[in-house]
Amino acid sequence: MKKLIIPMMLTIGYISYADSYETNHSYKNEVSHHTHNTKFNVSENEIFKRKLLVPPLVKGEIEEGKRVFELDIQKGKWEFLEGKESETYGYNGAILGPVLSLNSNEKTKIKIKNNLSEETTVHWHGAIVSEEVDGVHNSEIKPNGEKEVEFTLNQPASTLWFHPHTMHKTASQVYKGLAGLIYLEDEMSKKLELPKTYGVDDFPIVIQDKKISEDGKLDYTTSHMEKIHGKSGGRLMVNGIISPYLDISNGMTRLRVVNGSNATNFNIDLSNKEFYQIASDGGFLKSPIKLNNLKLAPGERAELIIDSKDFNEKEYLYVNGSRALEFRKTNNIGLRSIPENLVEISKVDTENLKLNTRNFELKTTSNSNTINNTEYNMEKIDFNVKKGTKEIWNIINGDSMMDMPHPFHIHGAQFRIIERNGKEPPLNEQGWKDTVNIGAGENIKILIEYKADGIVVYHCHILEHEEMGMMGQFYIEK
Ligand code: C2O
Ligand code: CU
Ligand code: CU
Repeated sequence: MKKLIIPMMLTIGYISYADSYETNHSYKNEVSHHTHNTKFNVSENEIFKRKLLVPPLVKGEIEEGKRVFELDIQKGKWEFLEGKESETYGYNGAILGPVLSLNSNEKTKIKIKNNLSEETTVHWHGAIVSEEVDGVHNSEIKPNGEKEVEFTLNQPASTLWFHPHTMHKTASQVYKGLAGLIYLEDEMSKKLELPKTYGVDDFPIVIQDKKISEDGKLDYTTSHMEKIHGKSGGRLMVNGIISPYLDISNGMTRLRVVNGSNATNFNIDLSNKEFYQIASDGGFLKSPIKLNNLKLAPGERAELIIDSKDFNEKEYLYVNGSRALEFRKTNNIGLRSIPENLVEISKVDTENLKLNTRNFELKTTSNSNTINNTEYNMEKIDFNVKKGTKEIWNIINGDSMMDMPHPFHIHGAQFRIIERNGKEPPLNEQGWKDTVNIGAGENIKILIEYKADGIVVYHCHILEHEEMGMMGQFYIEK
């Protein structure tokens, strides 16, 4: 892979990786490598002998009225395959990161140190924060460099996450292990009678797929076609572990699921058993939604409640038909029920609002990934809006031949879906969202209120697409 190191303020603009790749092999042979419905190398006999990694939940220290955290970005060694080490990246550890426990409306400070030998940034996915701390513009932390960011999240309880957003390096850095969760709590979430004992009945579940070579090494090399389709990998893992097991109590367990893969859509189920979704990207749903399966695109989160009451001794969480996680039911008694209603969420009402509509078209061709036919240009602001105003975004996946779904993500915002293909969205898409999957030919309408300020980016969360240019930016004036 050619490395292009572009200083943040360079004026020549964006150089597409696509230009430097050969495109002499025909696209047609590759059509079957779609990112959806990827099957994994997990056999029915896979032995679930490693315990699920449960990262530490950190509450920080209170200093001068701020809750202060430290994040140490580092290289580590990790055994994806038993007895075989791979180099990885992690926050405060070899892989992934701690779960940061934040409170809504509380001043938060994060002290970041970069111990990698390359620059990185930290982006707070789903957090409504302004440009200076969002981790995209002028946020580079050089090797051995340090940075402090401060923000206050005035938004509802939710499961957010953080990951690098380094120009041309986001995809490889996330793939190498950089991803952590934020548990944002508020008065409501503290009151609701839901499973909330961390590591007992409340677990972070980061699902990813990565390519691991025979010798156990993590392999992030991407061919041109892998850039075009996004990098998927043959090995499915939960919190960095292939085929882990988890002891759960007899009763309700809360799984805070993140699709942390670079490019793979996950279809999650519990064999034939039903489960509930209680939260989407940006917070609780109005009430728990009963589901048989859940589709989760890269970047999206869902909080699930599983009830082990009728489980056999062992049950499985399936991802795209493969067993991803084994549940072992213990004799501990857990919560027996969950509330019927969670939070008040207003109906999206756009009828009485005279709102401006903006159109976005996402498109993948055999050598480009664009929004409105243009690739991202760091120097160019696509449009300006005023803080506090609302608009409708009409987003179309214009792929005709590639059949690629695109998970569309907006920084510094939580939006509501007004329509999916002209119809009311399914119940589990009626809450707060920051990422929405748009299949080929599909059309999504969202209502967004501009609450952050400064330059805000929006992009496809297939990280290779984002890096190829399927990203844009706008400016929110105070
Ligand atoms: Cu998780 Cu710009 O994204
Ligand atoms: Cu984001
Ligand atoms: Cu995409």
